[in-house]
Amino acid sequence: MTSEQMPLINYDTIAPDYAESRQMLPETLAQWLGLIVQEGRLSGDSVVLDLGCGVGLFTDPLAHATGATVCGVDLSREMLRQVPPALAGLLTPFVQADGSALPFAEVSFDCVFMSHVLHHVSGRTQCLREVARCLKPGGRFLNRTLRTSLPTPVIEYRFFPEAKEVDARRLPSDAELDTMLRAVRLTPLRWIDVWQKGANSAETRLAQIRQKYMSSLHLITEEQFQAGLRRAERYARQHPDDPAWQYETVSMLVAEKPDEVSGND
Ligand SMILES: C[S@@+](CC[C@H](N)C(=O)[O-])C[C@H]1O[C@@H](n2cnc3c(N)ncnc32)[C@H](O)[C@@H]1O
Repeated sequence: MTSEQMPLINYDTIAPDYAESRQMLPETLAQWLGLIVQEGRLSGDSVVLDLGCGVGLFTDPLAHATGATVCGVDLSREMLRQVPPALAGLLTPFVQADGSALPFAEVSFDCVFMSHVLHHVSGRTQCLREVARCLKPGGRFLNRTLRTSLPTPVIEYRFFPEAKEVDARRLPSDAELDTMLRAVRLTPLRWIDVWQKGANSAETRLAQIRQKYMSSLHLITEEQFQAGLRRAERYARQHPDDPAWQYETVSMLVAEKPDEVSGND
């Protein structure tokens, strides 16, 4: 089974849980906004696409932080319905659409940001082709993701080896991403590995795990999940102060659409 053939998560069914369990800590959101602004070279004049925006964790905060126009696109109607009503439609337009067939003209965006999305998309190369088409020349593509070349970016991999295996199979490797980007004429520039705070304590992390906050936990059997949860709870009792309960490594690949290339082929 290739990474493109892994079963896909139906986000319409897990949207309410996602909104509850995936809230980012304010300091972590601030850390990422700084990086996105810097690597996306964003200013108040920028037009940004948050592709696979989900419940809008980054969409509106990015607009607030920069004054940029930020559009959130997601395939799942239910994920978009979880965008806090105070945000939807004010600073940011939210659009239901498939990343593999974006309803935007060529060269519309200065930056396309994707966070934990590409491995959920069926037809990734087509999606990246759409990203390249919609980017302006010189525009930046920022792909925030877990990176399988890092040994244990999240503590869950210690307790749920089957979930680690799922991610190893479905997340494109560094080399695969490099190849896919070059195929659509985007130039990979650099990876940035960010040590971020994901939870305040072992207990809050366990609560997230019980809600299957990582999508790979939905792709293992219930038996495997329960066995892993018991291992996690035992370890939390023995080592509640292990910093890995609170900190994890999430990475971002920065790529650019060359000035002289249109991105279409
Ligand atoms: C793990 S969530 C990430 C949400 C958000 N970017 C975040 O970081 O919180 C993955 C999202 O990708 C969306 N998605 C999956 N396939 C998609 C596609 N073909 N086009 C647009 N969005 C898609 C899902 O509906 C889901 O909201």
